[in-house]
Amino acid sequence: MNRIVIHTDTPSGTINRNLYGHFAEHLGRCIYEGIWVGEDSPIPNTNGIRNDVVKALKQIRIPVLRWPGGCFADEYHWKDGIGPRESRKRMVNTHWGGVVENNHFGTHEFMLLCSLLECEPYICGNVGSGTVQEMQEWVEYMTFDGESPMADWRKKNGREEPWALAYFGVGNENWGCGGNMRPEYYADLYRRYQTYVRNFGKNRIYRIACGPNVDDYNWTEVLMREAARHMDGLSMHYYTVAGTWKEKGSATDFTEREWFATMQKALVMDELIRKHSMIMDRYDPDKRIGLIVDEWGTWHDPEPGTNPGFLYQQNTLRDALAAGVTLNIFHDHCDRVTMANIAQTVNVLQAMILTEGERMIVTPTYHVFDMYKVHHDAERLPVHADCGVYEWNGESVRQVSVSASKNREGRIHVSLCNLDHRSEARLQLRLHGVDGQPALAGTMLTADEPNAHNTFDRAEAVRPVEFRGAAWRSGELEAVLPPKSVVVLAIG
Ligand code: AHR
Repeated sequence: MNRIVIHTDTPSGTINRNLYGHFAEHLGRCIYEGIWVGEDSPIPNTNGIRNDVVKALKQIRIPVLRWPGGCFADEYHWKDGIGPRESRKRMVNTHWGGVVENNHFGTHEFMLLCSLLECEPYICGNVGSGTVQEMQEWVEYMTFDGESPMADWRKKNGREEPWALAYFGVGNENWGCGGNMRPEYYADLYRRYQTYVRNFGKNRIYRIACGPNVDDYNWTEVLMREAARHMDGLSMHYYTVAGTWKEKGSATDFTEREWFATMQKALVMDELIRKHSMIMDRYDPDKRIGLIVDEWGTWHDPEPGTNPGFLYQQNTLRDALAAGVTLNIFHDHCDRVTMANIAQTVNVLQAMILTEGERMIVTPTYHVFDMYKVHHDAERLPVHADCGVYEWNGESVRQVSVSASKNREGRIHVSLCNLDHRSEARLQLRLHGVDGQPALAGTMLTADEPNAHNTFDRAEAVRPVEFRGAAWRSGELEAVLPPKSVVVLAIG
């Protein structure tokens, strides 16, 4: 029996809804086809943006969207993406498939997308191949209210009012595709570039510095030492890869070893956040600076027959479990981790949505984001879990991942993942501070097969169903989680 105690009367921090953020890059079919189809497309759209995708993303209450990359951000020149579309400059997307980028989706289109989604824009600027002036002018173009060369140009291009821009990233992966820099060099560049990311009028920008790759603790140390006072956030990237970078493994055709490895590697997120936070704590004990996990998710081999540079992968129950576990970890660290952006929204990596021409399906990962949205901006509740392990071939991980929160109305939500491929998990939950036996409801995502997934012909093969496996017994909650399941309980 797994014993879990939830302290409902001593909340510890707020689960920032931005932990449920997303990332959309000019990569493969994410922006083009996945989001942007153009005004003349037979696919129903609003000024070129697909209506079905907007509707699905609004359902999960997407809070913030990062754009235009990724590696693409450090070779993106924003001026190529404004003005009449027919005359926009074309370029080669050298990182992703070597395809021609026609720049039809630019600043105005991205801002329209965010307003349709009712989410915050998070723009990543170009440090690797862009100039300080270019970055300065982009911010002026978007946010300056009044007369200025950039604001006047924006108005000429059809947008009178400035946009509100809350989040700006100063470069992406500048230790790698964003310029192969040393942390000392980037720290100096960061200090310089961010100076010109100005707050115009009432607009206030939260400046995010490029942070470490996975466990590069030296990068965090140097950035915090040299630039902490100039930043509001420091990013961190970590992808869950079941195999090796060279042979990641199939998204759908995997063994129990790969299932176990995926769970084991998803759980590494906890260690990474703890260790990077320890460094940040030394320079920023009040936790003013957010750790922004602005790229995370599972990364498998591309689907056979697709352009390998497009990173198109299917999404199974295994990905849903990895998402559930990771989101629970983010909750645990909500004092330091204030935003996260899963990669990537449509048709790329661990996507929410897959499209094929005019058809669209949502993935098992999407359903986890939908089930977990009850945690947005809720108070995190401390949890003590005395749980068993899931063993495979002499190695083990904890069998159950759990997180709990209380929303403004006082309703408690508990998200539970049973990582075990084969065995159910029996739970006894004690809720300190809860009297009697309040109303109980639950939702569950599971399937018979670990690689169950949705296809364009079977769009609902994996979808949430009512969970009936929990009941009150003598003042405690007892629940039985089926193998490989994600469950969210609503109490009260
Ligand atoms: O998400 C795909 C790529 O992964 C991004 O462009 C890059 O930042 C990371 O390496």
